[in-house]
Amino acid sequence: MLPRGFAGRLTLIGMNIGHKSIYSKVAKVLELRPEDDLLEVGCGNGYFLKKFASHVHSVAGLDLSELSVKMAKEKHRDRIRAETAEFVQGEASQLPWEDGKFSVVITMGSFIAFPKPLESLKEMRRVLRPGGRVLVSIEWNAEDGLDHTREVKGYGMWLWTEDDVRAVMKEAGFSDISITYGKGLKMPKLMIASAVK
Ligand SMILES: C[S@@+](CC[C@H](N)C(=O)[O-])C[C@H]1O[C@@H](n2cnc3c(N)ncnc32)[C@H](O)[C@@H]1O
Repeated sequence: MLPRGFAGRLTLIGMNIGHKSIYSKVAKVLELRPEDDLLEVGCGNGYFLKKFASHVHSVAGLDLSELSVKMAKEKHRDRIRAETAEFVQGEASQLPWEDGKFSVVITMGSFIAFPKPLESLKEMRRVLRPGGRVLVSIEWNAEDGLDHTREVKGYGMWLWTEDDVRAVMKEAGFSDISITYGKGLKMPKLMIASAVK
């Protein structure tokens, strides 16, 4: 289900509208600071990094979709030129950055699709510096009261419970795990998990 072609462009732009309430909730939980070096895994077209994180020291994004990375690069052309933004096509469980490069690592709307969630979280932890913050936003989950049979069959979406999220984050090595909930468009119980390295 990777965005590609003209339809993919429209999907990514539509997602920006549908995800607006997620972006603002995530930004509120994160309390980004001007000195932060921020990575978004599964960054889509880089909308959040542009609109809600333009004040941080540097931004980086990784996405499996070639189109997502292309659109993100278009959006962040000026910052890329100034060497304070970087976008890479890749898989969440194999991040191409050195240990401790970032102060904040996030993933939004993407974790349910990662084929290797534990390995991905371990990678997110590896590229965080000590004391760095991680945030995982899970829009659809096992406890939101919706029927996700179609999505589970269609693209193998993971149905997370809060207990499972806490357990996998702990296994990946994170501490101070905290989970809050919000609401978004067709997302009655949006789960936002945050923790510290
Ligand atoms: C629903 S979109 C969310 C995009 C963005 N985070 C946002 O909220 O606007 C999910 C994104 O995750 C990417 N993705 C899915 N599986 C991935 C994986 N295994 N590794 C990296 N990116 C992945 C998709 O290509 C897509 O761009």
